[in-house]
Amino acid sequence: MELAIQEQVEDLRRFVPEHTVPETLALLAERFAGAVSFSTSFGLEDQILTHFIFENNLPIRVFTLDTGRNFQETYSTWNKTLLRYDKPIEVVFPQTASVEKLMREKGPNSFYESIANRKECCYIRKVEPLGRALAGQQAWITGIRAEQSANRQTMDPAEWDAGHNLIKVHPLHDWTWEQCVAFAQANGIPVNPLHAKGFVSIGCAPCTRAIKPGEDFRAGRWWWEEAAAKECGLHATTGEHQGFDPVVEAIKE
Ligand code: ADX
Ligand code: SF4
Repeated sequence: MELAIQEQVEDLRRFVPEHTVPETLALLAERFAGAVSFSTSFGLEDQILTHFIFENNLPIRVFTLDTGRNFQETYSTWNKTLLRYDKPIEVVFPQTASVEKLMREKGPNSFYESIANRKECCYIRKVEPLGRALAGQQAWITGIRAEQSANRQTMDPAEWDAGHNLIKVHPLHDWTWEQCVAFAQANGIPVNPLHAKGFVSIGCAPCTRAIKPGEDFRAGRWWWEEAAAKECGLHATTGEHQGFDPVVEAIKE
């Protein structure tokens, strides 16, 4: 990491906890003009960031990765967001040939059979498209919060993402779930109706279920796997997951 970049990361690490979310977003829009993107999966946290970006007319590109396996409720939240803010949301799809090969060779539900198969599907449907979505960007904004998992508690509000060669920023890093719910309600922000049915962290339909009271936030994601494995690779270069993943490296070859 060049010194100038390291200084920028440390500066943002100090800035984020001391400023409001719109102040952080405005700084990023100015500092990384034309090369700053926010990725949304239309979950509660992402809807709040979308609200701040669109309401304040901030020049930050907003994109989503459509895995092809989303819940219908996620598509309806996406649509409500377009109607409410009347701003563009870019969409990036997986490579058609890769999905066709996966489905032909392993069928539509291979992810339940092994962690390697699950990571292969996540790589094809999310990780590879994310790389294309972030090409040429200098800063990437996400809706990650520290409270979401033990791994995410080790993350800083701003970090260098060596895999994508950019600065990654989590403006809601220290927000609680209750704070997010209250803010969304107070501002009439469209939220995924699945949240009201016990879904907190929402990903693809076949790999997400509701959690029971007292369960971990991410307990409903890939619930058949050990907690330690529960990252899809989008955030693999972050926190404790930084570094080489042999399963993912084998898929890339
Ligand atoms: S994941 O790695 O387990 O899928 P999670 O659902 O917790 O991630 O979301 C964390 C952040 O990753 C979101 O706030 C969002 O910025 C980004 N993200 C997750 N899924 C998508 C998606 N399908 N499209 C765009 N961004 C996403
Ligand atoms: Fe595939 Fe499930 Fe990963 Fe979605 S979450 S990309 S369906 S393995």
